[in-house]
Amino acid sequence: MSDRIIEFDKVVAGYSPSLTILNETTLDARRGEITLLIGPNGAGKSTVLKTLFGILVPRSGEVRFEGRVINGRSQRDLLADGIAFVPQGRNLFGTLSVRHNLELGGVTLPRRDLPARIEEVLDRFPRIRERIDNQASTLSGGEQKQLEVGRALLLHPRVLLIDEPSIGLSPKLVADVMAMLRGLADAGTTVLMVEQNVRTALKYSDRALVLEMGRLALDRPSSDLLADPDLNRLFLGGHAAAASGAAA
Ligand SMILES: Nc1ncnc2c1ncn2[C@@H]1O[C@H](COP(=O)(O)OP(=O)(O)O)[C@@H](O)[C@H]1O
Ligand SMILES: [Mg+2]
Repeated sequence: MSDRIIEFDKVVAGYSPSLTILNETTLDARRGEITLLIGPNGAGKSTVLKTLFGILVPRSGEVRFEGRVINGRSQRDLLADGIAFVPQGRNLFGTLSVRHNLELGGVTLPRRDLPARIEEVLDRFPRIRERIDNQASTLSGGEQKQLEVGRALLLHPRVLLIDEPSIGLSPKLVADVMAMLRGLADAGTTVLMVEQNVRTALKYSDRALVLEMGRLALDRPSSDLLADPDLNRLFLGGHAAAASGAAA
């Protein structure tokens, strides 16, 4: 079996027929790794995740999951297939309890399986267990992100797509969230993450893909990129394509 669990093959997608955002985008994510998707604002990073999760349908090209084309599949089918998506921002029902939020994440599971699945999540996130009867909006930012990820894990996804999980978190909590994602990947869940907190995210990820204007500009092991003295210039100036040439 190929280790390329997610593949984009010349994918063209956008928000209207006249607006192309992904412009023959070709990239992949490998099984059990954290693949970090970085690049300037508006490059199309979130659009990649939305296209993977069936929110946008490609106009051409192929999106493949475990070798099968998934263009145009519904979000419900993709969830059932093993793809979970944690979008940017706050995605909880703030006035509902932590438990209720978890239960809502498991509505597509057989009812009898739900309690055990919730227990698994609570074993992984002891802090969430402590807050189980609290209103979700009373959790700290880091706890809310844990709850969102925990809710996504209820369905035992093989791939977790996560968009800017560190927004609004203190540096310590950013590292906690990254370490938690690292643990998931080491246990076999493939993670595809968009993150602006590049330096920290590189420390916890395996591979970095730089997207510029809807195209892959750079594909390097995270540790290489982290060691690159030009890292700051790359991400302040957006000259990733030049570095790609230098690295080749
Ligand atoms: N819902 C939308 N409708 C129309 N244009 C959008 C929508 N969402 C994003 N865009 C546009 O698509 C481009 C890429 O956006 P996005 O993928 O969110 O970028 P990134 O996540 O890399 O910052 C931007 O120019 C943005 O303005
Ligand atoms: Mg984005």
